[in-house]
Amino acid sequence: MCGIVGYIGNREAYPIILNGLKRLEYRGYDSAGIALYDGTNIQMCKTKGKVSDLESKVTSDISTAGKLGIGHTRWATHGIPNDVNSHPHYSMSGDLVIIHNGIIENYASIKKELIKRGYIFKSETDTEVLVNLIEDIKIKEKVKLGKAVQIALNQVIGAYAIAVFDRNKPDEIVVAKLGSPLAIGIGEDEFFVASDATPFIEFTNNAIYLEDEEMAIIRLGREVRVRKIKGDQLVDPYVQELQLNLEQIEKGGYEHFMLKEIYEQPTVIKDTYRGRLLADQGIIKLGGLEDYIQKFVNANRIIIVACGTSWHAGLVAEYIFEDWLRIPVEVEYASEFRYRNPIITDKDVVIAISQSGETADTLAAIKLAKQQGAFVYGVCNVVGSTISRETHSGTYTHAGPEIGVASTKAFTTQITVLTMIALKLAKVKGTISKSNYMMHLRELELIPSCVEEALRSDEKIKAIAEVFKDASNFLYLGRGYNFPVALEGALKLKEISYIHAEGYPAAEMKHGPIALIDDQMPVVVIAVNSNHYEKVVSNIEEIKARQGKIIAVVTEGDTSVKELADYIMEVPKTSENLSPLVTTIPLQLLSYHIAVMLGRNVDQPRNLAKSVTVE
Ligand code: G6P
Repeated sequence: MCGIVGYIGNREAYPIILNGLKRLEYRGYDSAGIALYDGTNIQMCKTKGKVSDLESKVTSDISTAGKLGIGHTRWATHGIPNDVNSHPHYSMSGDLVIIHNGIIENYASIKKELIKRGYIFKSETDTEVLVNLIEDIKIKEKVKLGKAVQIALNQVIGAYAIAVFDRNKPDEIVVAKLGSPLAIGIGEDEFFVASDATPFIEFTNNAIYLEDEEMAIIRLGREVRVRKIKGDQLVDPYVQELQLNLEQIEKGGYEHFMLKEIYEQPTVIKDTYRGRLLADQGIIKLGGLEDYIQKFVNANRIIIVACGTSWHAGLVAEYIFEDWLRIPVEVEYASEFRYRNPIITDKDVVIAISQSGETADTLAAIKLAKQQGAFVYGVCNVVGSTISRETHSGTYTHAGPEIGVASTKAFTTQITVLTMIALKLAKVKGTISKSNYMMHLRELELIPSCVEEALRSDEKIKAIAEVFKDASNFLYLGRGYNFPVALEGALKLKEISYIHAEGYPAAEMKHGPIALIDDQMPVVVIAVNSNHYEKVVSNIEEIKARQGKIIAVVTEGDTSVKELADYIMEVPKTSENLSPLVTTIPLQLLSYHIAVMLGRNVDQPRNLAKSVTVE
């Protein structure tokens, strides 16, 4: 994880880097640091804590003048979060300075060698080892910085996005990438470096996304020179025109990004199906799918790999695909899948779901599946992300940048894409009736207005949050399509409020969790109209008989559950297959309000990061 930013040009680097770090803080926020070249020397300031802590420290500690600089916001892997372990890191001579996102796995053996050669280390980080390795090579081999970086990277095992500069050559920054993202913004006589394009979007729309095993020398007055780290050949970089705008990455009047993103769902679900779902004509158009329909339709099995909330979207997809498409689906945690010697054949289709498109485990699972001959389809949000490039084809969600660490709009837009894929394939395969197909096209088109209606219960949900904010445990129950929603509801609460919560299939409750129920236990039950409605009502009776406090998500106009539940959260009626798209909304709001009431850092909960680029 970690976020990196760099600037070289004619403007003052400090405000650009600081602002960039704030935008990248979703990638890690346990420490931050900055290094600026002031014309003669390097000014460095680092601190444990957030970018705002760095900001308070910088002005008293260093001069902020300078037109070249690099900055880092960290999510610790090697070495606890403290000032010393924060990036940037100097080489021993103090000439080189580096920022790094990733892990150097063989750092210990390299460190041992360097210590033998007289190097002294101040931090416990793998990054300080890398910068000293670069320095050692530079001196030993008498090569320029770019070459030294290249030789060093050929010796390391691991993942990295790095930016490094030499105070004796302050007209260039050397960057390289393997496994962690790195974008180069191209301005007029100025360049930007960052983990994603958000730090430089107000300065330029032109960016190069480095591919794995590529490095670039960014020198003032010259075009960016990109080459392969192994083999050395020059690469003609593709300069991409960015579609992002500033408004999309700001809070827009909401107190938190998470709330903004919850409220964006009607719009982004519509953005995700716009131009793809033509309900009146009975058509679904998905560019990435057209050439591969037969691969899916003839597949023996569909394997979905993902992590976190994206894995929950995968579980919803399992129900949808098996119901409509009649192909067996397995949903796998990418981290388990990649290490358990799974059976994969060329008759399998793998769908990788990832908001960021950078999750290390999902990426590794994709590589494994590809090696074993499977066709891999991506469902990503971030355009140009590593997963979107590593998969054979795919469909983007159009959720826009998701900044809040707790995923909300990514989840509902992923389900929207997966629903469209399932409907389209089922129609070709002939496993869905025409009327069912048409009905679901129309229902999907109505989802944004259903989500809007569900959002209108916000104040009511806030009042429920007030009642339960001090509970120390929550149970979330659902059946069928809404079992994954129960898991997702529990995850949302855990992530941002730090209250323990468990999601369970409602019927399975009897095999364990029911023992937890007493008059102190809030139980959130998703009890909307469905084939399981009566069964869920019975489960609610069972909770009630044990004095559990019932908070039920019900369909508008419900009467039976209303009588039993202590509190209800109403959502509009939808088809059962699409219900997760609306039942998840009150659960997002419930956890949001509880977290706010408990004074938690909603957008940057402790220990978490938005994009997990380490395994
Ligand atoms: C992290 C985030 C989660 C996210 C998961 C998978 O844990 O905090 O919100 O669901 O990674 O991320 P991805 O970008 O692959 O969907």
